[in-house]
Amino acid sequence: MKLAGIRPDIKDVQPYVAGKTIEEVKRQYKLDQVTKLGSNENPWGPYPAAVKAMQQEVLQLHTYPDNSFVEMKRKIAEMYGLDEHWIAVSHGAGGMLETLAKTFVEPGAHILIPRYTYGLYREISRLMGGRVEHTPVTGEMQIDMEKLGESVRPNTRVVWLCNPNNPTGTVVDKTDLLSFARSLPEGCWLVLDEAYAEFADQSLLPDRVQLIKEELPIVVVRTFSKAYGLAGARLGYAIAHPDLIKVIDTVAEPFNANRIGLAGAWATLEQEQGAVAETISVVQTERGRLQTALTERGFTVYPSQANFILFDAALPADQSAHELLKQGVIVRSAAGWGLDSHIRVTVGKPSENDIFLTALDKFTQKVRGK
Ligand SMILES: Cc1ncc(COP(=O)(O)O)c(C=O)c1O
Repeated sequence: MKLAGIRPDIKDVQPYVAGKTIEEVKRQYKLDQVTKLGSNENPWGPYPAAVKAMQQEVLQLHTYPDNSFVEMKRKIAEMYGLDEHWIAVSHGAGGMLETLAKTFVEPGAHILIPRYTYGLYREISRLMGGRVEHTPVTGEMQIDMEKLGESVRPNTRVVWLCNPNNPTGTVVDKTDLLSFARSLPEGCWLVLDEAYAEFADQSLLPDRVQLIKEELPIVVVRTFSKAYGLAGARLGYAIAHPDLIKVIDTVAEPFNANRIGLAGAWATLEQEQGAVAETISVVQTERGRLQTALTERGFTVYPSQANFILFDAALPADQSAHELLKQGVIVRSAAGWGLDSHIRVTVGKPSENDIFLTALDKFTQKVRGK
């Protein structure tokens, strides 16, 4: 069909590439057992209190949630020693990122995005008519903050910064981040996407509340999809100055968080903080074990502060990912980021990580044997 009337900016926007689902892979490869290490989810599932709360909440689905989300905002704000005026909620962090693009990006605005990062930043910026410039990383896959700073122009509206970064797992030096934020010209916003912050050594991350209270132009984005185990329930949020929160809440669609996600997140915060901390600790231990195991196998591994690891498999990434897929292990080829021989693997349960290493060994032995 000839689609007339579609906005020209949309022609340049690439659809979001989601990881494969377990069901898809089982069907396609006729497998009984599939290990999903491709989408950086929490492999243990939602926490028990969240499951119970979400099941009960189903009975309320004929009614809209409270559109002000004041209770949820207050609950989130408590974690940061703030009140509800500093928080906006959203349909996943993805929903918040989109709202922020609508808030800041006007047609022709200059947008800065470091290379090798979360793909949604580019697409939502383009969707709003922004002109995207990518800035380089250093040899160790670290975001080059000096180059990023040099690239800011008077018409730069947004700098999207993922910390820890997806897919590299690296974090920006917090002193560099602070200097960068302080150097931004009026009208330029730093969106600090902390989707994976819970998995990081907290001493490496900036004091986000302090930065926001200093009235630096920063919005922090967080999610319940990763450490909190609620990816399918879709709840994210922003921390920002109350003046900006009012704008974000005006731009966002009404009811942009659903009852199930709210109930699950509430119960997790109220009753499962100990279990969340335990999960994070296991992920950190397993991340170290996987990093060592991959390094011992001769792969170049990038130091990660997230729940995934990027490594150079020294073979075409799509082929490696496909070979692992055939053995029932879903990982993410980094070819889509232009890293043609790199693989991103989510840190799973210990048994899942063992399955991944066994499958990797089987495949690399096959290749080396040739
Ligand atoms: C860096 C980053 N930001 C945001 C998101 C979106 O998360 P959510 O599930 O909360 O929309 C993801 C999802 O993988 C991500 O990797």
